Amino acid sequence: MNKITPQPGIMDIKLYQGGAAHVTGVENVIKLSSNENPLGPSEAAKEAFRRAALDLHRYPSSDHGGLRTAIADVYGLHADRIICGAGSDEIIAFLCQAYAGLGTEVIHTEHGFGMYKISALAAGATPVEVKERERVTDVDAILAACTDKTTLVFMANPNNPTGTMIGAAEVARLADGLPPQALLVLDGAYAEYVEGYDGGVTLVEARENVVMTRTFSKIYGLGGLRIGWGYGSKDVIDVLNRVRGPFNLSQAALNAAEAAVRDTSYVDHCRAENARWRTWLADALAAMGIPSDVSCTNFVLARMASQKEAEACDAYLKSQGLIIRLVASYNLPNCLRITVGDEASCRRVVHAIRQFKDGDADGTSV
Ligand SMILES: Cc1ncc(COP(=O)(O)O)c(C=O)c1O
Repeated sequence: MNKITPQPGIMDIKLYQGGAAHVTGVENVIKLSSNENPLGPSEAAKEAFRRAALDLHRYPSSDHGGLRTAIADVYGLHADRIICGAGSDEIIAFLCQAYAGLGTEVIHTEHGFGMYKISALAAGATPVEVKERERVTDVDAILAACTDKTTLVFMANPNNPTGTMIGAAEVARLADGLPPQALLVLDGAYAEYVEGYDGGVTLVEARENVVMTRTFSKIYGLGGLRIGWGYGSKDVIDVLNRVRGPFNLSQAALNAAEAAVRDTSYVDHCRAENARWRTWLADALAAMGIPSDVSCTNFVLARMASQKEAEACDAYLKSQGLIIRLVASYNLPNCLRITVGDEASCRRVVHAIRQFKDGDADGTSV
């Protein structure tokens, strides 16, 4: 008998499916499946990355001091309460490793980001899925699901893949109502797309039981380099640093992120472009009879009439070289998540969906 067995929970993990990037037999594809910034990173970030090539034999900074100072300067935070990770995925993993384990429960929402469940299972904890209300986080349902075993509550605000968000007063009500042993994790991967939103900073400053995660993969256009960060109380950040590997970020990634975060005018430009084409895309979908919730992110969640129509539309778009995301694994089988691309991509995807709808609304002949 094979006695080599993994820890409990590991074999319950379903592998994370990233957004596809290729379609067999189709050239010149446009990838709108991973919520990447179609404009790419700032020139300053690319230049900082190139400079790192001169020192590849050196180990990177282990305390990430330069990047933490830059983030603190730009966002008005305390640098000693920031932790950096290989994507915010790694911060999520640190949180689960440090605060969840056998016998504990980790709450995530019905349409929440897939890594919450994966990281909870990897830590041996029990993931608890909580219903949303019409694709919006339901604070009362989360509070009702809390038990004396709950140690982490994950919520993305705005959320992926719904694109919706809840207001600061609701988030504060959630933080206030949690049991004393539970930490609220506010995932702000898309926070920079919301004009005037602090991503949860005010709440983190006011309460010991709230931590915030952020990423360089979305508006900063650095998904390929894997950089994220978290902000919390001194105690929580101290705990997370104990499970962090000393050289978890490469120097090239640190340099590029530092330059990217300081290039605030480029971020403003990306936010404005995204808002413009997001409205255009949602309006064009609505004109074809395809509804979507108001998106606070860099994608639009198109609600097709049925799962069959969603799958047929996705297949048609693929045949046209347009890769979007089916989100059945997020309990949204009739929806298509479409990243807001640049002008040309938005126009192409709308044109193709119109062709699909004009051809056969049920998708039966596609
Ligand atoms: C809500 C949310 N959180 C976290 C992440 C992880 O981002 P990264 O690990 O690239 O920083 C994503 C990526 O899509 C996301 O949508």
